[in-house]
Amino acid sequence: MTEFTVNSEIIIKENIFELYENLSFRISELVNNSGNDFYLALSGGETPRLFFRYLAENYKSKIEWNKIKFFWVDERCVPPHDPESNYKMTKENLLSLIPVQDKNIFRIEGENDPSEEAFRYSRLLADNVPSSNKYPRFDLILLGLGDDGHTASIFPDNIGLINDKRFCAVSGHPVTHQKRITLTGSVINNAKNIFFHVTGTKKKDIVKSILLNEAGTENFPASHINPPDGYLYWFLDGSAGRLLSI
Ligand code: 6PG
Repeated sequence: MTEFTVNSEIIIKENIFELYENLSFRISELVNNSGNDFYLALSGGETPRLFFRYLAENYKSKIEWNKIKFFWVDERCVPPHDPESNYKMTKENLLSLIPVQDKNIFRIEGENDPSEEAFRYSRLLADNVPSSNKYPRFDLILLGLGDDGHTASIFPDNIGLINDKRFCAVSGHPVTHQKRITLTGSVINNAKNIFFHVTGTKKKDIVKSILLNEAGTENFPASHINPPDGYLYWFLDGSAGRLLSI
């Protein structure tokens, strides 16, 4: 069973905009209080879409954006203009709305051959992100949670990627079989800060199972995200966190 570190916190806000504000404020504090460079890895999917827009619109002048080097936790193996692309979603809702230079954007190139891209991105991380314990050490990783317990593109049927010694790997969505490139758990758990951002009623059961450490939880990749030398925060809206307060 997973034991959460003492360095973890669960934040539940009934109203989604209160949650966005709390998340934005904490990101701004981390970035603005850091040295010159801030290494951030973003997730895709639907949950960050509205949040990124909130962050761009409300924190455009409150965050020292030029410090941030943007990376991705995972990417779907599609070109950057494809509606499924995590990069496209991030560009439209965040990057195009804030002051950021192209040299600070390190996207996963989903249009490339997946194995070659996993290798290329691993090299890119080694060359561009400070390391500790032989792994890249991000200042902050934003993660989502699937209702099957996946995070990044580490699904229950390839949970071995949690302890995989590589930096990046090719994965596949278990239902659509869409290929994905993902950071491994070894890189994710080496981060200084990990923020899970989870909203909506559909996620309430998996949130309860993981955060209350129910039987069988170890089969969910997200339950293994627990940085030994970092901080773990769960940001939930009232719907996703509903079963925790019973
Ligand atoms: C992706 C992800 C993935 C996502 C979860 C939650 O590319 O899909 O990075 O791990 O965070 O699947 O997705 P939703 O926010 O769409 O529910």
